[in-house]
Amino acid sequence: MTTTPLSQMLREETARAHASAEGSDFMTRLMAGELSAEALATFTGQLWFIYEALERAVRSVADTRIVGAVADPRLERRDALELDLAEMYGPQWRDEVRILPATARYVARLESLDTPGSEPRVVAHHYVRYLGDISGGQVIAARLGALYGIDPDALNFYNFAAIGKIPPYRSAYREALDELALSDAQRAALIAEAQAAFTCNSAVFAELAKLYPGAA
Ligand code: HEM
Repeated sequence: MTTTPLSQMLREETARAHASAEGSDFMTRLMAGELSAEALATFTGQLWFIYEALERAVRSVADTRIVGAVADPRLERRDALELDLAEMYGPQWRDEVRILPATARYVARLESLDTPGSEPRVVAHHYVRYLGDISGGQVIAARLGALYGIDPDALNFYNFAAIGKIPPYRSAYREALDELALSDAQRAALIAEAQAAFTCNSAVFAELAKLYPGAA
């Protein structure tokens, strides 16, 4: 049995993937204020497809011991994304959003978790998106507001007021991970899936970067 706390192991094992996602061309240009409003709206649309699938996957097993340890309806982003998309595109946003192939592959992966024993892998996807959103996501939201003059009404995605103060929430989330009694195989599956989840996100960024090439 390994003794390293799961939260620590997850962070260490995904550090390289995190650096690569953070340093991706699309994220770099996003954070430098170089993208168009259209690119931002397309990005937000991809998030809507992803969270719709993620939240369906989580809800379907939220009453299990493993997923129940982290599932929290207050984290759900789908409604917030719908508000943001209505701000960005107008009320007809559903007719405007188009799923990119990499997003469709991410969604298919989330849908494939609908099999018995997948709970550790569902937790992996939960960790990669939500812990990222309440951590780095807060930095990103501040930048988007300042760089692109985006109205807070179109940044509901990054608003986690419902969970209260973020640092204690994050600590409690990590503790919940650490207290999960998992077999070595379940732990390994969780970590591998977290790495796969980062890869899914990076693939979406790569397609967005191609769709909206820089000036270089
Ligand atoms: C410009 C892009 C990004 C920035 C600036 C950023 C920044 C950060 C920062 C500052 C933290 C907090 C580190 C700490 O307090 O220990 C963090 C944590 C995290 N980020 Fe990001 N991030 C970015 C992109 C992403 C992406 C694309 C994902 C995944 C889809 C992601 C997932 C995570 C996760 C899971 C954590 C929690 C790590 C842990 O403590 O276990 N981040 N990020």
